[in-house]
Amino acid sequence: MLDKVEKIKKEIEESRATNSAELEAYRMRFISKKSVVAELFQNLKEVSPSERKKFGQLYNGVKILAQEKFKILINNLDSISTKNDQIDLDVTLPPITDNLGAIHPLSATRARIIQIFEQIGFNVSDGPEIEDDWHNFSALNFPENHPAREMQDTFFIEKDPDVLLRTHTSSVQVRVMEKSKPPIRTLSLGRVYRNEAISARAHCIFHQCEGLFIDKNVSFVDLKQTLYYFAKEMFSKDTKVRFRPSFFPFTEPSAEIDISCNICKGEGCNICKYTGWVEIAGSGMVDPNVLENCGIDSEEYTGFAFGMGIERIAQLKFQINDLRLYTENDVRFLKQFRTL
Ligand code: DAH
Repeated sequence: MLDKVEKIKKEIEESRATNSAELEAYRMRFISKKSVVAELFQNLKEVSPSERKKFGQLYNGVKILAQEKFKILINNLDSISTKNDQIDLDVTLPPITDNLGAIHPLSATRARIIQIFEQIGFNVSDGPEIEDDWHNFSALNFPENHPAREMQDTFFIEKDPDVLLRTHTSSVQVRVMEKSKPPIRTLSLGRVYRNEAISARAHCIFHQCEGLFIDKNVSFVDLKQTLYYFAKEMFSKDTKVRFRPSFFPFTEPSAEIDISCNICKGEGCNICKYTGWVEIAGSGMVDPNVLENCGIDSEEYTGFAFGMGIERIAQLKFQINDLRLYTENDVRFLKQFRTL
């Protein structure tokens, strides 16, 4: 028996494990319930009671030896595998590129518009995208059944009373005027919806920026000067601006605003349809009816308003020809704006 014990001890001492399979083999042979060490303890039953204590201590010594060695083998194997990891590291390989996001061109344009108008005292106000008839149409002087309502291809959520997706950010004008007193100088930016077939030039979701300035003695000169300033800040100092007479139910007089094409510098290209001019906004003096609808005395106060498409400004800034690109979230498109 003593011989057998010596053999097992020697075997334990000489054991090596260079991989996990060898470690497992060691565990089976010397640690597990079916190990040769466990077998020794089985033998204790056959040992005479007077010698049982001596043999018990002897076998315990073997058990401790086997466990200590097991710990050493585990440690050794750990350090072998870390060494291997280091060997596997190839510092000459190209780096794994980080997929950092980029600022969406619409967000960048929105932020720049806000910055430009904040410099001349405008604040930013917000309103809901789900609107009622009053804020989207009636308060803005759209008479019931007036064809101008049709022009806006509205998405209705409910009929009678009307609940709809706002077709323009002009609805926020109404909300601001209803809850605050002049002077008001505010900008509202956000998503608007129209029931249009999606193409390169039209989309059912797009973004607008609405400006509103109400105070005593505000005139068309203030409107012109504000938009001249905006066009030059947004594009370049030599950008030309022109006002064309137009119609909106909520402004009188109304004008559409064109700027000299930022892409061809007025020489003619497919963006400006070879006219040298691109339309960027609708504008006008706030109709007295609208002021009265919102609880503002139209004898005392006057104001101007304008509304522009953020996609259009971004298109001119970044030469983006297809409206669908803004919402497709194709990373090949988006990552081009990483250095904005
Ligand atoms: N709400 C108009 C539209 O969506 C744009 C607009 C025109 C806004 C004239 C205005 C404005 O504030 O004065 O077509």
